[in-house]
Amino acid sequence: MNKPLQLLNNLTPSQFLAEYWQKKPLLIKNAIPNFEGLLSPEELAGLACEDDVQSRIVEYIKGKWHAHQGPFDDDDFATLPDNPSKEHNWTLLVQSVNHYLPEASALLQQFDFIPHARLDDLMVSYAPDGGGVGPHFDSYDVFLLQGQGKRLWRISAQSDLTLVEGAPLRILKNFDTVQEWLLEAGDMLYLPPHLAHWGIAVSDNGKDCMTYSIGFRAPKNQELATEFLGFLQDKFNQEQIVLDGIYQDADLILQIHPAEISKKMINSVSKNLQKIKWSDETVSEFIGTYLSEPKPDVVFEANKKITLHAFAEKLTAVGVTLDLKSLMLFSGEYFFLNGEMINDNEDSAALLKLLADNRRVIAEDLKTYKPINPSLLQQLYDWYIAGYLHLMS
Ligand code: SIN
Ligand code: CO
Repeated sequence: MNKPLQLLNNLTPSQFLAEYWQKKPLLIKNAIPNFEGLLSPEELAGLACEDDVQSRIVEYIKGKWHAHQGPFDDDDFATLPDNPSKEHNWTLLVQSVNHYLPEASALLQQFDFIPHARLDDLMVSYAPDGGGVGPHFDSYDVFLLQGQGKRLWRISAQSDLTLVEGAPLRILKNFDTVQEWLLEAGDMLYLPPHLAHWGIAVSDNGKDCMTYSIGFRAPKNQELATEFLGFLQDKFNQEQIVLDGIYQDADLILQIHPAEISKKMINSVSKNLQKIKWSDETVSEFIGTYLSEPKPDVVFEANKKITLHAFAEKLTAVGVTLDLKSLMLFSGEYFFLNGEMINDNEDSAALLKLLADNRRVIAEDLKTYKPINPSLLQQLYDWYIAGYLHLMS
């Protein structure tokens, strides 16, 4: 678990976390030996033409940036220049490739030293020579893994994060290169959030640049608080949080202005509101449901209906795997899958933890848990029907 990894410049995950994570960039030459990428430019363009895939084309034309949202079609690609120049270049970016490609999901599993609750997605970009999205910063932690071609990465530790006004994407107005590296296939660069960077595609032997961004979300505190307040509201509505009593003012004294809200009234209400309390359990329930909630555009395809009995037989014979779009987290004995929470009995926990950590449970492992308790079997079956998990083939 904590062995030195080539993926981390032969650091152990603990060393990487202590020295670099959220702190400073790390260049890793040959992080994944012989890595040439997981899909071709044509396959990436094909994904960008699908309705449920989030994609963008960023074009730079004579000093101006333009952003187009997918899905695209052949005509959109036909209008892009075959021979991009300094004046006119472009890049295609496709989000959540791990939702469509099992190999991409497997690549993300190499980054299991970071909790799944922090994972965002694998974005893949393609750019002909000179293309890119310009100098910018992200609010994400990201590992930029080079596929085919090369990319010149420039970074800057600048505190001036002023953006170009009116641009359809966030471009830094001033960018002062402090360091630059040319990444080749299999090289990787880790960048903490808010570090200014600029990647310029460099074609290599006729192969255009493809970059794989393994992104980790760092939600804004404001966002977490807003969402948590909504979550608490539900708890109130379900009467899981209760404030007793009614407003009392037995000590009311005559007011000069009947329309005035008195200091006393404000203090009394304020005191009562401060009685709103939540436990760590409520917070863990919130984090688990919120962070495992699929993005709004994610749709699961239901599996073909089979009987519970047939499912049970197949399950023990072949095992189960989470759908590529599923995210499963847990906290203690509470499990969260795609925004839903379950709390099964204790003997289910070990098996569910295995499923959450490894994204699958093979038939061999299932033998250890035989017989699977009926409520867990029913749960797995419901998730199977919903398309959250599948029987392995
Ligand atoms: C890219 O792959 O072109 C952009 C990645 C990034 O700068 O975050
Ligand atoms: Co970036």
